[in-house]
Amino acid sequence: MSERDLQPKGPSSAGTWCCLGGGHVYTEADRELAEAIGHSFPVVPSAARASHAFLERVVDHTARAGIEQFLDLGTGLPVEPNTHEVAQAIEKNTRVVYVDNDPTVIEHARALMAIGSPEGAVDYVDGDVRDVQKTLDEARRTLDLDRPVTVLMLSMLGHIENPAEASEIAQRYMRAMAPGSYLATCDSYDSPDMRAAAAAYAAGGGPPIYLRTAAQLEPAGAGLEFLAPVGPISLWHPTEPDPEPVDQWGFVARKPLLPTDGSTEIDHPVI
Ligand SMILES: C[S@@+](CC[C@H](N)C(=O)[O-])C[C@H]1O[C@@H](n2cnc3c(N)ncnc32)[C@H](O)[C@@H]1O
Repeated sequence: MSERDLQPKGPSSAGTWCCLGGGHVYTEADRELAEAIGHSFPVVPSAARASHAFLERVVDHTARAGIEQFLDLGTGLPVEPNTHEVAQAIEKNTRVVYVDNDPTVIEHARALMAIGSPEGAVDYVDGDVRDVQKTLDEARRTLDLDRPVTVLMLSMLGHIENPAEASEIAQRYMRAMAPGSYLATCDSYDSPDMRAAAAAYAAGGGPPIYLRTAAQLEPAGAGLEFLAPVGPISLWHPTEPDPEPVDQWGFVARKPLLPTDGSTEIDHPVI
């Protein structure tokens, strides 16, 4: 199947975000809505590109810190380089599980991302991230949850209306993860520009996007060690000098390592 050979349907989150973020896998309906939104609200393509760049930096950073397992929840359609490509370039044995509930994503994930390193492993779970137990059961086919995992929830929890419910879902994943695991998450920030864009996106047939404040994002990381405060993701470990802040906010945080001597001290510094 060619990248454009998709069934006609209304615009999807995965397709519009892929188009806005510089990917090439989307329907005509996705492209029309993405272009209309991008034209009227430049804040949105900036956020989509920043979200993908954040993914690359988080995967690179945590892989260099020794993480060899990734759980990418709400994967979206492929935008190169994908999670396994970044991670396996650093450690070829890395194992990656992608999860999405859009059947188009799974179809394309299988077709386009099946070329992992021969030593590593890439798996796909066709399921709803809100079904935490089922997702974890399926992820265990590939991941050893007794060892640290980087959990990515990038630009996906904002599809859940209630911010407290979204945070609780992230917390349930992190409770199941080993000490030393990381959580990276981001969503569209509740700014006047984003509010206008989200309304136009919904009016154009896109799925609802619920915007977040810093105070609504932070509880997802309760009990974890924040590598930096919640803020614009373009400012997190930037690779370019003087990056512009974007209206896509998030954080990276690590589950504390268990003290080995009965003290409350963490036995490794947070990087
Ligand atoms: C805006 S895209 C973000 C894609 C990618 N994570 C990124 O940052 O570029 C949101 C993705 O989350 C998926 N998604 C939304 N709600 C979901 C849920 N409850 N379970 C699984 N996937 C979900 C959508 O299908 C879509 O692919």
